[in-house]
Amino acid sequence: MNKSLFITFEGIDGAGKSTQIAMLKEYLESKGCKVLLTREPGGSNIGNSIRGILLDKSNTAMSPLAELLLYYADRAQHISEVIVPALEDGYCVICDRYFDSSYAYQLAGRRLDDSVLDTLNQMVVDTHMPDITFLMDLSLEESISRVSGRGESDRLELESLSFKERVRHGFLEQAKKYPQRIAVINAMQSPNAIFDDILARIEGSGLLK
Ligand code: TYD
Repeated sequence: MNKSLFITFEGIDGAGKSTQIAMLKEYLESKGCKVLLTREPGGSNIGNSIRGILLDKSNTAMSPLAELLLYYADRAQHISEVIVPALEDGYCVICDRYFDSSYAYQLAGRRLDDSVLDTLNQMVVDTHMPDITFLMDLSLEESISRVSGRGESDRLELESLSFKERVRHGFLEQAKKYPQRIAVINAMQSPNAIFDDILARIEGSGLLK
């Protein structure tokens, strides 16, 4: 298999994205794919500097619009410097978060206007849509209990419960908007059961043929 594929993972904190990403990488490599793992924010050098600003919990004065523009600045750099070249080079790119996170956190969470998001998304993401997106869904209670054991929280993790509820709902709205692309995965299951669901979706999609 040397066809490039663009796969993204989304979800609220503590959904277990990293474990599934590592399992999927191993699986795709066993099928002969070259795999590139990347993430947002921070998939490029410039992006890593932007990530520092975004997650710094002392940046309490950041306006919702400034936050949105920083996520899209990171994304613009990431797409042109990392994602597009890798796909052109025949890689399967697995990205930990992409633009669906902006619709969940900045549109639903921060209550920004959808026309602003749609305009930016058209400018930056344009045709660079993922082939498939896994939305790892879990209850807020489970998310909070998983994250509480992790040490210090970043700026977004310190948000209120109602913000996090809106974010989870925002992700589910994205899944309704893009039912062909976004597979909602029950992240309350064991890691192996979650991975079985992911594989079933990937194999059923015909993307690996
Ligand atoms: P990170 O430590 O990568 O979180 P996680 O391990 O949960 O993926 O931090 C990224 C944070 O940025 C996370 O709280 C979600 C948030 N985020 C947005 O608010 N908008 C976006 O567009 C993206 C990509 C991430």
